Amino acid sequence: MEWNTRVTAMLGCRYPIIQGAFGGFGTSAIAAPTSQAGGFGLITASALRTPEGLREDIRRARSMTDRSFGVNLSIPACPRIDEQLEVCLEEGIPAVETAGYRGDEYGKRLQEAGVKWIHKVASLKHALAAARQGADAVVIVGLEGVGFKSSIQLPTLIGIPLAVRQIKVPVIAAGGIGDARGFLAALAMGAEAIYLGTVFMATKECPVSDRYKQGLVDDDPSDPVVRDRSLAPPNPKELAKVMALRDSLPTLEWLQKLENVMMGRADDASLDMSLVAEGEIVRAGGSLAVGAIDKVVSVKELIDAIIQGAEEILTSQPFAGFWQSAGVPRA
Ligand SMILES: Cc1cc2nc3c(=O)[nH]c(=O)nc-3n(C[C@H](O)[C@H](O)[C@H](O)COP(=O)(O)O)c2cc1C
Repeated sequence: MEWNTRVTAMLGCRYPIIQGAFGGFGTSAIAAPTSQAGGFGLITASALRTPEGLREDIRRARSMTDRSFGVNLSIPACPRIDEQLEVCLEEGIPAVETAGYRGDEYGKRLQEAGVKWIHKVASLKHALAAARQGADAVVIVGLEGVGFKSSIQLPTLIGIPLAVRQIKVPVIAAGGIGDARGFLAALAMGAEAIYLGTVFMATKECPVSDRYKQGLVDDDPSDPVVRDRSLAPPNPKELAKVMALRDSLPTLEWLQKLENVMMGRADDASLDMSLVAEGEIVRAGGSLAVGAIDKVVSVKELIDAIIQGAEEILTSQPFAGFWQSAGVPRA
């Protein structure tokens, strides 16, 4: 089957499957195999720390695949974001994703240089804002997913259909997705690609420890601890207080406060940034996508399983019967 959407056309990839950003370890090690397997890999600029490091990693990815890949600029985590954006332009990156704060300033610069601008958000309100600001596509992360939560965030099943009714540019679904059924469900809801974080961490190529990967395999989404780590939006008043401090505190200090509010922890809890520390990751938040993980596989196996599984579903009962009754020849 062909899996063409406006997103695959925009990004130049075979399947509408995007590998999400990972602060700390989202390098070519995972982005290149994703693109090579037909998805769209993202290098997370903050994981490379410096513009020089980002350039080197883009070149490393180029030596690993001739397929296209993008870069994520997580705004609060990139103190040298202007230089990192320049590196993306100089290195001919076709699409850049901004996240973590409004991205229109960067989006305009990217688009003027002919680069597609994707913006990632956690709420319908911010998705609408990004579309108004001219983003070429928006990623919406549902409450089931990992990331800085919004107090007005919706579950993926509710947020995506609401968004596609109101947004003309392609909507990309993230949050709690990890297998063929989630992939088809997202497309049925009107999304034009899926965007996966957690399940890519349980791949052989992901540079986190085996112990962490096994934890993802073992996690049970119905365990209240796992469930609540994911489905706990922050207190709106506390969040507003922290957001008001954004320009008056050093970035790391502000991020620590933000993280604490996001996780419902005391304001003075110690830094817990989802970053790698000697191969281990602190579990800041979680994703119900762990429900889709039953073993550690390669990136290619993950992508192939999603695509082959989706094709099997569409060609087996009851779908085959639906096609037949409608007189539609099957692919
Ligand atoms: C360990 C970890 C680190 C992440 N770091 C970032 C980041 O630095 N920037 C960002 O935009 N998203 C980050 N994300 C979010 C993912 O890119 C993606 O939006 C999210 O994982 C999607 O939900 P899912 O985990 O249910 O697939 C991170 C996710 C994980 C699991």
